[in-house]
Amino acid sequence: MSIPPLFRCPISLDLFTDPVTLSTGQTYDRSSIEKWLADGNLTCPVTMQRLHDLSMVPNHTLRHLIDQWLLMDPQFDPDHIKNMDPDLSLATLKNNLQSQEASFTTKMETLRKIKDLSKESDTSRICLIQLGFFPLLLQLLFGSHHPETRLSAQGTEIAEEALNCLLNLSPSSQLGSLNMLKEPSSLASLLMLLDQGSMNIKISLWNMVEAISSSFETKDLCLLLGNNRTFLQLLVSLLHQSSDQCASDAAIRAIAGLSNLESNRGNVIREGGIDGLISYLSNPDRRHATKALTTIELLLGLESGKMALISNPNAVHVLVKMVFRVSDHEGCESVVNSLLIICYDSLRVRKKAINAGIVTQLLLLLQSQSSGRAKTKARLLLKLLRSMWSEDPSRCKLQHGLVDS
Ligand SMILES: *[C@@H]1O[C@H](CO)[C@@H](O)[C@H](O)[C@H]1NC(C)=O
Ligand SMILES: *[C@@H]1O[C@H](CO)[C@@H](O)[C@H](O)[C@H]1NC(C)=O
Ligand SMILES: *[C@@H]1O[C@H](CO)[C@@H](O)[C@H](O)[C@H]1NC(C)=O
Repeated sequence: MSIPPLFRCPISLDLFTDPVTLSTGQTYDRSSIEKWLADGNLTCPVTMQRLHDLSMVPNHTLRHLIDQWLLMDPQFDPDHIKNMDPDLSLATLKNNLQSQEASFTTKMETLRKIKDLSKESDTSRICLIQLGFFPLLLQLLFGSHHPETRLSAQGTEIAEEALNCLLNLSPSSQLGSLNMLKEPSSLASLLMLLDQGSMNIKISLWNMVEAISSSFETKDLCLLLGNNRTFLQLLVSLLHQSSDQCASDAAIRAIAGLSNLESNRGNVIREGGIDGLISYLSNPDRRHATKALTTIELLLGLESGKMALISNPNAVHVLVKMVFRVSDHEGCESVVNSLLIICYDSLRVRKKAINAGIVTQLLLLLQSQSSGRAKTKARLLLKLLRSMWSEDPSRCKLQHGLVDS
């Protein structure tokens, strides 16, 4: 049974019994730090800062966490600590992450240890979060790059590992830390990683963007991202690539999240979001077809969204095919509604839709288990299209085997 190393005093390496935090923000066991000071040392042992202020605040959070952990683990034997790897103290890990001098190898080893800890148990995960590792990892990922223009191989490895740790921790309580991306230099690092990172990095980052878009705490950041053209262009270009399904799936979740904010929609459309969504849907068996369809429906709330969809040469064809390909009610409703909206606006679209076989699709839909709302929309759309059958009834009847009742 291993115990979370984060529960150990950086001086004694023993389990904290009375953790106190100094003015430097570092936490030590009261007896250890008192002895250190009594010996005439007037520095904070971890940061080496001179202590002008000798006050100590009991760290109740840490104390509470340790108590909880002791309760959860009645087998706990304090002697175990003595046998543990002394390098694995919280302070060392923190220092290695922050230090400018730590070598690449040290940083990688540190990140791997953090990753292992984050997977080890819920308790260790909670500890890492409580002890401030989340913002620290963000800082490593986005803050410490000197505006590099090209991502090095080592930079890639560090970023991948830091992202693994961050996603393992993925604390909903810490999403506010992501607001550090409002800093122009951090945002520049994010853009650089989204542009030059490996596929794994991109996928993790777009997942992070989805998380940003889902929290009220990071709403301003979400608006800021939605206003940045480079950012949106990187997102849209990923929707167009078809070689990596996981990557484009992550991009769909991100664009759906960003589009939930009304003020982002115009920008998403301007940067080609609609074309990207249609391009995503034109590959068969898309996992997030429904998300893509509901996002298109949202974007059609804007005139520019309708124009973009109508002028996409493949849109009508792709959407008509989706009527039956999406298996859930929500996606089905969205696609029928979107078709209704653009058919209503344009005669040319109605013709295209009929040529793409929409009438058959809608009639099948009316006989299926689809939701009442989808069927209502389907009937409205059929009614709208009927004016065109009467213009050329023979053709439609032949083509679709219809009896115009
Ligand atoms: C005080 O600091 C010195 C040098 O930093 C160190 O050698 C000594 O062990 C410290 N005293 C205690 C009690 O740790
Ligand atoms: C408690 O200790 C941890 C670990 O050093 C620290 O991150 C946290 O900020 C401390 N909490 C308070 C309230 O000082
Ligand atoms: C996007 O963000 C980057 C990095 O902060 C910045 O340099 C660029 O000017 C921004 N672009 C827009 C259009 O805001």
